[in-house]
Amino acid sequence: MRDFLVAGNWKMNGYAAGNTALVAGIAAGVPHSARVKVLLCPPFPYLASVVAQLQGSNVAVGAQTVSEHQSGAFTGEVAPAMLRDVGCEYVIVGHSERRALYGETSAAVAGKFKAALGAGLKPILCVGETLEEREAGSTESVVDEQLGAVIDTVGIAAFASAVVAYEPVWAIGTGKTASPEQAQEVHRHIRALLAGHDADIAESTQILYGGSMKGENAAGLLGMPDIDGGLIGGASLKAVDFLAIANAAAQG
Ligand code: 13P
Repeated sequence: MRDFLVAGNWKMNGYAAGNTALVAGIAAGVPHSARVKVLLCPPFPYLASVVAQLQGSNVAVGAQTVSEHQSGAFTGEVAPAMLRDVGCEYVIVGHSERRALYGETSAAVAGKFKAALGAGLKPILCVGETLEEREAGSTESVVDEQLGAVIDTVGIAAFASAVVAYEPVWAIGTGKTASPEQAQEVHRHIRALLAGHDADIAESTQILYGGSMKGENAAGLLGMPDIDGGLIGGASLKAVDFLAIANAAAQG
C-alpha cells in the first residue's frame, strides 16, 4: 500500500511574517497518520527559515525548481546541492508554469530531475496536458512524452526515489478540478507506462494529483486507487484549507 504525500506549492506567494503563522498553523494540525506525509514548498528566500521552523516536526520542505547544473556561472540559478544544504528533501521539476512561462523543455526538465537525484533530493516530476491538448485527444501522448523524456535520461530505477504529479494545466488555478474519474484515468495510464519498464517501481511510485484541489474535493480524488496525494497551490496558502486536504488523506 502506498503512503499519501500532501504537498503545498506556494508558488510566488507569501512573506516572512505571514509564512511563520502559516507554517506554525500547519505544523500544529498535521494529522497523526503514519500513512500521510506533508511537504511545504516555499519560494527560495524562505526555504532555510521554514526548515528551521519545522525542526523536530514531521513536515518536510522542498523547492519549486532547481538548476540542472552543479555550480558556476549561472546567474540567478540555484544548484541542487544548495537545496540539500539548506535542508530540502524534495524539489518540484517541470511544473507547467515553468514549461509554459520559462520555456523549460522536457529535455531540460529531465536534466533537472537527474541533477536533483544526484544531490540526494527527491524530484516531483509534473506532467499534464493543456485544455487544447485534452480536447484534441492527446492527453496520453503529452504525458507519455513528458514522462518518457525523463525515463530515457535517468532510467526507470530512478523513480524509486521520485514522485510524479499529474497536473492538468486546465485545472490549475482555475477552480476547475478534474473529476476523480478523469484524474484516475490518467493516473492509471501513468502507472501503466511506468509498469511497462518495471512493475515493482510502478507499484511503489507515488502519483499526486494537482489542479484546484481543496478540502471539498480531496476525499473523492484521494479515494481513487492510483491517486497517492496532492500537489496543492491556492489551498496550500491557508493552514485550515491545506489541513482539510491532509486530513482527507489521513481518512483515505
Ligand atoms: P492550484 O491548486 O492553485 O490549482 O495549483 C495547482 C498547482 O499548480 C500545484 O503545483
